Amino acid sequence: MRVLIVGGGAREHALAWKLSRSPVVEELYAAPGNPGIAALASCVPIRPDAVVELAEFAQSLKIDLTVVGPELPLVLGIADEFARRGLALCGPSRAAAELEGSKVFTKELCQRYGVPTAEARVVHDREQAAAAIKSLGLPVVLKADGLAAGKGVLICRTGDDVESALVRFFEERAFGAAAERVLVERCLEGEEVSFMVLTDGTTILPLASARDYKRLADDDQGPNTGGMGAVSPSPIRPALAGEILQDIVRPALGGLAREGREYRGVLYAGVMVTSDGPKLLEFNCRLGDPETQVILPRLEDDLLLLLRGAAAGELAGMRAQWRHEAAVCVVCAAAGYPDSVRRGDPISGIADALAVPGVVVFQAGTALEDGKLVTAGGRVLSVVGRGATVSAARAQAYTAVERIEFAGMQVRTDIGRGIE
Ligand code: AMP
Ligand code: GLY
Repeated sequence: MRVLIVGGGAREHALAWKLSRSPVVEELYAAPGNPGIAALASCVPIRPDAVVELAEFAQSLKIDLTVVGPELPLVLGIADEFARRGLALCGPSRAAAELEGSKVFTKELCQRYGVPTAEARVVHDREQAAAAIKSLGLPVVLKADGLAAGKGVLICRTGDDVESALVRFFEERAFGAAAERVLVERCLEGEEVSFMVLTDGTTILPLASARDYKRLADDDQGPNTGGMGAVSPSPIRPALAGEILQDIVRPALGGLAREGREYRGVLYAGVMVTSDGPKLLEFNCRLGDPETQVILPRLEDDLLLLLRGAAAGELAGMRAQWRHEAAVCVVCAAAGYPDSVRRGDPISGIADALAVPGVVVFQAGTALEDGKLVTAGGRVLSVVGRGATVSAARAQAYTAVERIEFAGMQVRTDIGRGIE
């Protein structure tokens, strides 16, 4: 089969790495890919949001299956464009991807189908926001309705936080059209877990558990990022996974289907485990990054068959089996990340890192300049260690990270710490 991966980060490098091991995959393409992916796939210079161009490419090369990494093409309707042309693609339609594309849509869906989530109000201007904040009380969370590159969520614990959030949302208009509608919601306290499933609209296969580390610095300090590391399995109670499936994922998918928005692909639930049970924080319509980098190395089965099954509505009877081992991903981020990323710093040591047993290195923000690998984005590399336990995997990952160098590299030192 000919397979096209859309995207060019470490998540897509992990997808390419796993798919390249499938005996069914004969040719692998990535758009746009990156220098790491180029070792496994033919990279074509098409941006992930160029949905029509991607469909034309897939049609002309007779691609048998397209796998979409990032959310933007899904929210823009890449699945619909491919379906119109009879091309197979693993990912939800535009209507189903609204679960990620609109937080107001998702909040209202949760209310219609009894999915537990934080109480919230929808507001359009500063006055309505101030009134909603007053009625909910502090702490409170303000969220842009639409896609805001992971930045449109502000948690307000003090009056000063509220003032600066109101300025960002309604005076600076920092989130543009994504914040025409804003959710003001109650702040939930508890432990945050991610839960991902693969579904064909009917059958739901839970993926291996994973947790990510969103803050830039050790001990969950510093600004939020796209994710500085991940661990799989995550230390959540098995019963909790069942509760999240039953109380959150099933009713949401069922509700969507009932409203004519059948969901196919990966659904990612960000959940807060409160003293009152698990509550939904957000849905993503795709695989997590960096969670993918720790779950795919643990997958026993052929990923191609699972993704093709989800795309074709043929997941029934299929199983995803996970190795009884752990994986730990440490992200090496560029100088200045997440605010103003510096580019062009030469990277060395990847080959030495790969010599550590069990280690894989997935590239994200990298580029080739005069034949040399340099930094070209915020999250530069995902270094993944594997072992019988999280602590063994963690040791391998950090041994490998020590061999990698680039100026200004930022790394958390506590990924997987304190987990057996
Ligand atoms: P979201 O994009 O909605 O997941 O929000 C990004 C991050 O903000 C989440 O991963 C949580 O850490 C935090 N967050 C979002 N909503 C809430 C909430 N209602 N209570 C507490 N934390 C929240
Ligand atoms: N790791 C969080 C995400 O992929 O959204």
